[in-house]
Amino acid sequence: MAPLLRSLAVTGLLCASFLSDLVAARETSPRAIAAKREAAVNGWDKAKHGPDAAGHLERLAKGQASTVKNITFSNPEASQFWVDGTSIPLVDFDVGPSWSGLIPISSAANETRKLFFWFFPPGPEGSLDDLIFWTNGGPGCSSLEGSFQENGPFTWAVGQAVPTVNEYSWTNLSSMLFVEQPVGTGFSQGTPTARDENDVAAQLVGFMEQFLNIFSELKGKNLYLTGESYAGMYVPYIANYIYENPTALDLNLQGIWVSDPVLGWDVVQGQIPVVDFVHKYEHVFAFNQTFMAQLDAVAEKCNYAGYMDKYVTYPPAGLLPLPGKSVENDRGCDVWDKVFDEAVTINPAFNMYRIFDTWPVLWDVLGFPGSFPQTQVSPLYFDREDVKKAIHAPVNVSWEECSDGNVFVGRGDTSLPPAMTVLPNVIEKSNRSVIVHGLADFILLSDGARIVIQNMTWDGKQGFQTPIANDSFIVDGVGSLGNMHQERGLTYYEVALSGHMVPGFSPVAALQIMSYLMGFRATP
Ligand SMILES: *[C@@H]1O[C@H](CO)[C@@H](O)[C@H](O)[C@H]1NC(C)=O
Ligand SMILES: *[C@@H]1O[C@H](CO)[C@@H](O)[C@H](O)[C@H]1NC(C)=O
Ligand SMILES: *[C@@H]1O[C@H](CO)[C@@H](O)[C@H](O)[C@H]1NC(C)=O
Ligand SMILES: *[C@@H]1O[C@H](CO)[C@@H](O)[C@H](O)[C@H]1NC(C)=O
Ligand SMILES: *[C@@H]1O[C@H](CO)[C@@H](O)[C@H](O)[C@H]1NC(C)=O
Ligand SMILES: *[C@@H]1O[C@H](CO)[C@@H](O)[C@H](O)[C@H]1NC(C)=O
Ligand SMILES: *[C@@H]1O[C@H](CO)[C@@H](O)[C@H](O)[C@H]1NC(C)=O
Ligand SMILES: *[C@@H]1O[C@H](CO)[C@@H](O)[C@H](O)[C@H]1NC(C)=O
Repeated sequence: MAPLLRSLAVTGLLCASFLSDLVAARETSPRAIAAKREAAVNGWDKAKHGPDAAGHLERLAKGQASTVKNITFSNPEASQFWVDGTSIPLVDFDVGPSWSGLIPISSAANETRKLFFWFFPPGPEGSLDDLIFWTNGGPGCSSLEGSFQENGPFTWAVGQAVPTVNEYSWTNLSSMLFVEQPVGTGFSQGTPTARDENDVAAQLVGFMEQFLNIFSELKGKNLYLTGESYAGMYVPYIANYIYENPTALDLNLQGIWVSDPVLGWDVVQGQIPVVDFVHKYEHVFAFNQTFMAQLDAVAEKCNYAGYMDKYVTYPPAGLLPLPGKSVENDRGCDVWDKVFDEAVTINPAFNMYRIFDTWPVLWDVLGFPGSFPQTQVSPLYFDREDVKKAIHAPVNVSWEECSDGNVFVGRGDTSLPPAMTVLPNVIEKSNRSVIVHGLADFILLSDGARIVIQNMTWDGKQGFQTPIANDSFIVDGVGSLGNMHQERGLTYYEVALSGHMVPGFSPVAALQIMSYLMGFRATP
């Protein structure tokens, strides 16, 4: 080898061609890289032509049209909500028809509380038999974020220069209804009166009744309730309310999706797993050894260390204990905040919703999370007067992604986490239920979801009876992209590389999971 290298080095010509060969061998030209990316994206496309595609297409083929389905609503009131998809500000393509605006949460003449919604009909391949409801969390965060940056038909995500068509929109599957709820969120109107999740559910169902009176062609559809983060509270309670009040809504609830959800105690979803998480991603956090030793000491002292190995067994040996006295954290045991503070010190662009982000902070037209040193943009996209007018939003309301005001009266939501209350009933009554978690989320940790599941009893048994196998979530056209496990009507997914907002950060995985939830594919 050495003589060859030396002989190559003696003539400039050979040397140059040797270098260009090297470059070629590494395939780093823009063209070569573009070709690899294109191949990968074509792989993503197999999400729609995968092993289950036959059944999928068969169910979706009904009423096939070549454009977005322009559902017509016979109630003349519907037309006042119609949005012209060719004139959405700064969007230079036709989004297709949609409907949005404010609708009261009851039929009372003096009702002052109204929720803001945006309804999209199915795309060309979508089903007319189904309706997906989506809510963001917070509490107090707007579902327009989900619509605009996660699973809606057009997207202007963090870091994108311009809005684009969302190839992985859930409108490819069916109609979608995004609602800013509860009262106090986004454009929604009125003074919050909810004390707990049952109030939230009753108000949302009240809104849905009014919505179906106007958009009555949607009555009788199969309903899927979906949401992320604090919607881990909303969605199971709303589903439970619908199952327990079966005549309230003329819709057939089939199942739920909750991603990166609040389902259990804070100590479980934030504190217990966090030091293990830092070890797993130690080169991402890049903490020094002294600090790592401090973290290990806190984890040891607070009974977080070794918790997963000891208690998260399949099947579990009994109810899982708290590590200390508090459901949040005992004194001196708030290691999540210790990690977060250090992460931000080292990397001021540290994003608790996706740990891989580094400097510079990515531009966000919705100005989220608002805690970064730069002010991202003003006005925020949905706070522009032309945008508000285009979507029938109240122009005198200043929109922010997550409202400062409390959307619950008093000291906040008094409901217990759903895994200890309504979630088992919802799983038992649903055809399919999915819990999804991004593995790169820091605000809520996937190992916490594992603890919650192993401590929950549904269908007469506690937790999963057999272990979650590694690399068991296979995405069509991609290969394994995390872990998946299912028992007794519940499917749990962990999505590799995904942050908190799974439909935004891992759209292909999310679309496959949603197809499974809706019965468009037989396998998860
Ligand atoms: C879609 O429906 C709306 C309201 O029903 C109507 O005004 C509009 O012209 C329709 N568009 C197309 C392309 O059919
Ligand atoms: C509406 O009026 C009814 C009585 O007719 C009253 O009980 C209710 O509190 C009022 N609601 C609001 C939101 O003012
Ligand atoms: C979703 O629908 C759009 C519009 O028809 C299409 O271009 C896209 O390929 C579809 N995506 C998937 C994953 O089916
Ligand atoms: C390691 O990190 C801790 C916490 O930020 C800091 O106090 C300490 O000075 C650091 N050690 C070194 C060698 O930089
Ligand atoms: C497990 O569930 C029991 C009963 O709901 C609850 O009291 C306990 O706090 C839970 N443990 C954990 C670690 O969440
Ligand atoms: C905005 O205007 C509507 C109708 O004009 C009114 O009912 C509402 O109270 C106003 N809201 C604010 C925050 O000023
Ligand atoms: C559940 O799935 C079955 C089979 O796909 C279907 O017949 C049924 O209508 C679905 N819904 C409920 C609520 O069982
Ligand atoms: C699964 O992978 C983790 C590392 O991510 C490893 O610690 C664990 O032992 C693996 N489990 C099995 C059953 O192989």
